[in-house]
Amino acid sequence: MKVRKALFPAAGMGTRFLPITKAIPKEMLPLVDKPLIQYCVEEAMAAAIKEIIIITGMGKTAIEDHFDTSFQLETILKNKGKLEELKVVQDVSNMLHFSYTRQKEAKGLGHAVLVGRNLIGNEPFAVFLGDDIVNATVPCMKQMIDVYNEKGCSVLAVKKVPRDEVSQYGVIAGEKVGDRLYRVLDMVEKPSVEDAPSDLAIIGRYLLMPEIFDHIEVTPPGRGGEIQLTDAMKSLLKDQPMYALEFEGDRYDAGDRLGFIKANIAFALERDELRDDVVKFIKGLNLK
Ligand code: G1P
Repeated sequence: MKVRKALFPAAGMGTRFLPITKAIPKEMLPLVDKPLIQYCVEEAMAAAIKEIIIITGMGKTAIEDHFDTSFQLETILKNKGKLEELKVVQDVSNMLHFSYTRQKEAKGLGHAVLVGRNLIGNEPFAVFLGDDIVNATVPCMKQMIDVYNEKGCSVLAVKKVPRDEVSQYGVIAGEKVGDRLYRVLDMVEKPSVEDAPSDLAIIGRYLLMPEIFDHIEVTPPGRGGEIQLTDAMKSLLKDQPMYALEFEGDRYDAGDRLGFIKANIAFALERDELRDDVVKFIKGLNLK
């Protein structure tokens, strides 16, 4: 069955990025001139996904406004003859079909995914964590869907991280079965360095079979007292095979100050109209 739907958990408070996230959803922070979440929606489109389901919470209406039609703005741009800008604005609201539902309690990533159950139904689906931005020639989710089309089961995105960083991630144990592909044998959410089964960290892209919902439902609170998606996937692993893809591309943790700054520099350098001036500016900083 084709992957047609993508779920975006976006109810988090963005506490790593206060005070900017006090009144602005972290998903709406800009990379150059587009909000973080738009990069993920574009990645979903490039993977032929047709429907986006966003799990929101209090204070997140800017996300809905961004992907909605703005009659007032479009009228003003039309009247002023600003047709290029008009196209940019219209392209965003014409991207895909969006549905929104709220996670009423902060009970963790697994719980956020479960909130989307009715909107997903009984079909495989993609999950995007908007903090993780991947810059790749072949978009990360497209790489994962290629694996899914061959294997017909859940696929996780993984990346090798320095040993001292494993405790920030879900970490897998896997058997290498291809150039960048692992059959998942086990996984653990945010292990200590000593307990980590490998240095392969789960990055915020998942392709999940719908049976995951039954497993989340019976997953008790884990790390941090929250219902962890990693724990539910570990449970699903008992019933179904699962693969992990060490995707090709650069990943930025844009939910973190340093990662966000790095991502902005990297994406600015990819814009023809900005590149030379950004290079000139950085060289002129006289860094020691
Ligand atoms: C979540 C997941 C974790 C994963 C990470 C990727 O953690 O729980 O397994 O490795 O995203 O970014 P969070 O960063 O939300 O704490």
